[in-house]
Amino acid sequence: MNHPATPAPVRYLVFGASLRTGSLNARLAGLAAETIEANGGSVDRASMADFDSPSFNGDVLDESGPPSGAREFNRRLVGCDAFVISSPEYNASMPGVLKNAVDWVSRIEPQPFNEMHGLLLSASPSMAGGNRGLWSLRIPFEHLGARIYPDMFSLAQAHRALVDGHIGDERLQHRFETNVVNFMSLVEASKHYPCVKKAWIEYLGEHPEPAIDRVQTESANDRVTVRG
Ligand SMILES: Cc1cc2nc3c(=O)[nH]c(=O)nc-3n(C[C@H](O)[C@H](O)[C@H](O)COP(=O)(O)O)c2cc1C
Repeated sequence: MNHPATPAPVRYLVFGASLRTGSLNARLAGLAAETIEANGGSVDRASMADFDSPSFNGDVLDESGPPSGAREFNRRLVGCDAFVISSPEYNASMPGVLKNAVDWVSRIEPQPFNEMHGLLLSASPSMAGGNRGLWSLRIPFEHLGARIYPDMFSLAQAHRALVDGHIGDERLQHRFETNVVNFMSLVEASKHYPCVKKAWIEYLGEHPEPAIDRVQTESANDRVTVRG
C-alpha cells in the first residue's frame, strides 16, 4: 500500500454547547481550537447556534426530515475526523439543547457519530467544573458508537480560571494542553494507521432490525459500513 509522504491534517469540529453570549464553554472550546491548531490539527470552529434545532418530533422527521440545524451538524461532522465539545452541566446532566441536536442527527443515515473520536470538556463556575454533565454525555455518544476519549477535562471555577483567553493557572493550562494533544495523537493514529479499527456492535440479544439499529449494516452478514 502506498502512503503519502505528508499525511493530510486531521480535522476537528470544535464547539461549546451553550447558546449564551459570553459562554464559558465557548471560551474553553476556543482554547481547545487554539491548542489543536498550534499542534498541527485543522479546526472547523462552530457554535451551538449553528446546530440549534426545534424539539425532536418524530412526525416532523417523517414529514419533512431533520431541521436545518441538525443537517448542518451532520454536514460539519462528516467533514471532520473527530469532534471536541465543551459542554455546560445543567442540573447534574447534559444541556437539553445538545441532547436534542444529537437526537436529531442520530436519525440521519448513515449516523455520523459511529466510529468517530470525541473529546469532552466542560467549564462551570462550580467546584466540580461540570464534570457530572460529561459522564451523562458519554452515554448517548457511546451508544451511537462514538469513541469518547477516556480523559475528560472539566474547568472548575471557570469564571475566575479563564484569564485573557487562557487558563490562568500555568499547571492547569499545561494539563489542559496535554489532554488535548494526547487526544490528537489517538485520532491521528486512528486516521492514518487504522489497524485497530473495529466494527461497533452492540446486540443485547437483539436480532439485526432496521427499526432499532443505530448503524447501517451492509447485508445479512452484518458487516458494518466502515467510514471512508
Ligand atoms: C438550568 C441550569 C442548571 C445548572 N446546573 C448546574 C449544575 O448542575 N452544575 C454546575 O456546575 N453548574 C450548573 N449551572 C451553572 C452553569 O454551569 C453556568 O451557568 C455556566 O456558566 C453555563 O455554561 P456557559 O457559561 O457555557 O453558558 C446551571 C445553569 C443553568 C442555567
